[in-house]
Amino acid sequence: MQADTLKKIQQYNQAHLLKFRDSLDLAGKEQLDAQLEAIDWDTLDSLIKEYVLQKPQVKIPENLEPAPYYPIKPENEQQRALYEKAEALGKDLLENGKVATLTVAGGQGTRLGFDGPKGTFPISPVKNKSLFQYFAETLIRIRQKYGKPMKWYIMTSDMNNEATVQHFTDNNFFGLDPEQVMFFTQGTMPAIGTDGKLLLGAKDSLALAPDGHGGTLLALKRSGALEEMNKNGVEYISYFQVDNPLITIANPLFLGLHALDESEMSAIMLAKTGPFEKLGNFCKSGNALEIIEYSDMPEELARQTDADGKLRFIAGSPAIHVISRSFIERLTSGGRLNLPWHRADKKVPYIDDAGNEIIPEDINAVKLESFIFDALPLASKTMVLEAAREDEFAPTKNRTGVDSVESCREMMIDRDCRRLEAAGVAIPRNVDGVPALKVEISPLAVIDQEDAVAYVKNKHVSIPVGAGELYLD
Ligand code: UD1
Repeated sequence: MQADTLKKIQQYNQAHLLKFRDSLDLAGKEQLDAQLEAIDWDTLDSLIKEYVLQKPQVKIPENLEPAPYYPIKPENEQQRALYEKAEALGKDLLENGKVATLTVAGGQGTRLGFDGPKGTFPISPVKNKSLFQYFAETLIRIRQKYGKPMKWYIMTSDMNNEATVQHFTDNNFFGLDPEQVMFFTQGTMPAIGTDGKLLLGAKDSLALAPDGHGGTLLALKRSGALEEMNKNGVEYISYFQVDNPLITIANPLFLGLHALDESEMSAIMLAKTGPFEKLGNFCKSGNALEIIEYSDMPEELARQTDADGKLRFIAGSPAIHVISRSFIERLTSGGRLNLPWHRADKKVPYIDDAGNEIIPEDINAVKLESFIFDALPLASKTMVLEAAREDEFAPTKNRTGVDSVESCREMMIDRDCRRLEAAGVAIPRNVDGVPALKVEISPLAVIDQEDAVAYVKNKHVSIPVGAGELYLD
């Protein structure tokens, strides 16, 4: 190990990390040394003082206002004309290959309790297609529809990169051209015991965790993805989270408004279901747009209502963005990007001083993460567009209940049924309005209402009496 790393480890009271080093084989030593040498110890020590040894006060600006947004439907003639122009421009951008897409899939998906990368979870209601397959098929249809491949950047982490890539290679990339996909990994941060000491996850390794999706921007630069986008003439990135199969990846209106407004980073917003729904909150402080995470939003603000009794901070974030490539280039030009850190208290398994593996029953550690939406206040211009939840957002976070596998599948079925109904197909529904059968339309065939109408017309779709499920491709 390099002498100055050793000096720093001792200086900052972290020498317990070397306790088993002498007993390791060469590969073990090399791994541990590489991890320790990669750390900027001076910075980490100040982070420990600021975020671990004390509970940092989340800084909520005093002048917080609800953020303005474009309504889902235009409200006057002028706006109608703007939306039409934006939609046409958005289609143009897609047809000219100006848009790439980016999925953040580096998280650990602990709440889902699924042993594998979240994107490999079998989500579709009839065919059990994985989230990744569902997106891959959507991208195949986008390529057909707009005549240009939309390059797919998938951010994984060291914890799930191998299994993610394997899922694609095992399945022949679900029919996508492998050239259309680029995987890149985000950074990690060491888990830190609540006493300020780093934890060993094994005798030859720190306990490491992904550093939050704020790491995406720098990872795009470091991986060469930004440079590749530049070379290929990509100007805009359609960004979404791996857990949301309802996402409209190619959204002409959203893209067009972003471009017309010369926004650097834009966002989709949904009306929250209640004050404490687990969504980031769109707020404005001065001229800057900010998302205040649900866990940080002061209860008093979350509860505020306007004269009609409607929540004042109604706008929730489904984490859907359009980001300009040039914005990311600007932010990362110096090779560094300092987004604020957020503290999460966790139970992290570790190796104790006697070499035993301990599975803690209580919180014992702090993980530090940065969030991509903390880049919003750094943008010179931003734009927020309202969308309908039932068309855009069905997150798979938990096994059952709210935002679960169950609710996600129900929403997928409902969305496909509504598309068929709007195209003239009668769907049997139960007394409570829920479709009486499971319906799944392949994204290879339909990714929007226009596709649904053409599909129904060409294939003469009708629902067989008494059918329990129906798959359309
Ligand atoms: C997230 C957002 C929240 C938003 C909600 C919508 C954060 C901090 N909050 O909440 O504002 O309203 O989604 O569903 O993101 N990920 C990585 N690397 C990481 C951590 C996460 O790639 O280091 C990815 C995950 O794979 C996932 C996404 O980021 O796709 C969101 O992570 P998750 O932990 O599910 O965030 P939420 O708390 O649900």
